[in-house]
Amino acid sequence: MKLLVTGGAGFIGANFVQQTVDERPDVEVTVLDALTYAGNVESLAPVRDRIEFVQGDIADADLVDRLIAGTDLVVHFAAESHNDNSLNDPSPFVRTNVIGTFTLLEAIRKHGVRYHHISTDEVYGDLELDDPARFTEDTPYNPSSPYSSTKASSDLLVRAWARSFGISATISNCSNNYGPYQHVEKFIPRQITNVLDGVRPKLYGQGLNVRDWIHVEDHNRAVWTIIERGTPGETYLIGADGEVDNRTVVRTILELLGKDPDDFDAVTDRPGHDMRYAIDATRLRTELGWQPRYRDFRSGLAATVDWYRDNEQWWRPQKDATERAYAAAGETVL
Ligand code: NAD
Ligand code: DAU
Repeated sequence: MKLLVTGGAGFIGANFVQQTVDERPDVEVTVLDALTYAGNVESLAPVRDRIEFVQGDIADADLVDRLIAGTDLVVHFAAESHNDNSLNDPSPFVRTNVIGTFTLLEAIRKHGVRYHHISTDEVYGDLELDDPARFTEDTPYNPSSPYSSTKASSDLLVRAWARSFGISATISNCSNNYGPYQHVEKFIPRQITNVLDGVRPKLYGQGLNVRDWIHVEDHNRAVWTIIERGTPGETYLIGADGEVDNRTVVRTILELLGKDPDDFDAVTDRPGHDMRYAIDATRLRTELGWQPRYRDFRSGLAATVDWYRDNEQWWRPQKDATERAYAAAGETVL
């Protein structure tokens, strides 16, 4: 089987490519990635000689058409993925997440290729802390940020192309991922690498916001489950019952690194900051039989802390520029 993975040099895509190459020798993998600031070929180093890598833009219609013509399956991870960046400059988000997805869909329908669309729980907006509800496949779309609204737009394009043109597409909406190869701009790697650098972790506002953490390997196994057992035209939510508030995450990272758990800074809050995400993955579990392997967040986080401690050469080149960007955006200690 010939598989095209977009965004395969990013965090989740690179983990997906590594897992696929290691566990599915019958799959021939091509990665299409523009290598933006978020892409890193070093994340593919362990499998580099067993894949084809194409540096290019998903909004380049000629390139996309050529690549999809020779492919059986496309798994689409490529995106601008960081909420804070989308608040500073939404324009690349519209271009990559909306126009890029549109470009892929047009080639998918022309060549009749199976398509899996990677999306986020943020399309559903947020929940109150005391709301017993969780997101399901039937929750109405209500995105808050430029990032989540462009992801919601891309999901709606996929649904329309499935219904109107009959493309064979599935969609998954997953909660917050953690694990190796995540860019140091994101919450968990940022705080781990801050502590390793002797810098106090930065918590937005009071840190009461809740995210529903899932290990990236569990997300990617769920994606293969949906590709193999899901029904084309359908959406599946992916989550592993991992709700934790940000303050607890920061305190746990400090503890795991042998520091005082109160040794963090409260900084400027994110405008429009979503309060809580929570996934009900009953459909994925009962209809498709998926189960997470990482059930204990603290031990998954400990393994992630170890990975960043052991792989400084991977994250160090991005660290200073990332912190400068946060400072330039006006982040200040409260
Ligand atoms: P990431 O930012 O780490 O990686 C994105 C990758 O896409 C990078 O390698 C980048 O170079 C590439 N890319 C960006 N624009 C491109 C373009 N125009 N053409 C080709 N390649 C381009 O993102 P991630 O965290 O790995 O997220 C991957 C996907 O998963 C995204 O679609 C995101 O919305 C979704 N998602 C992420 C999470 C999470 O917690 N990180 C959770 C749910 C869903
Ligand atoms: O829910 C899925 C989404 O999870 C994905 O669609 C996004 O691509 C991914 O980036 C992530 O979005 P979040 O905005 O939830 O992730 P982030 O890592 O940016 O922040 C997680 C939480 O931590 C959020 O409440 C903001 C907070 N935070 C973040 C940073 C970078 C801090 O308190 N301090 C920080 O320095």
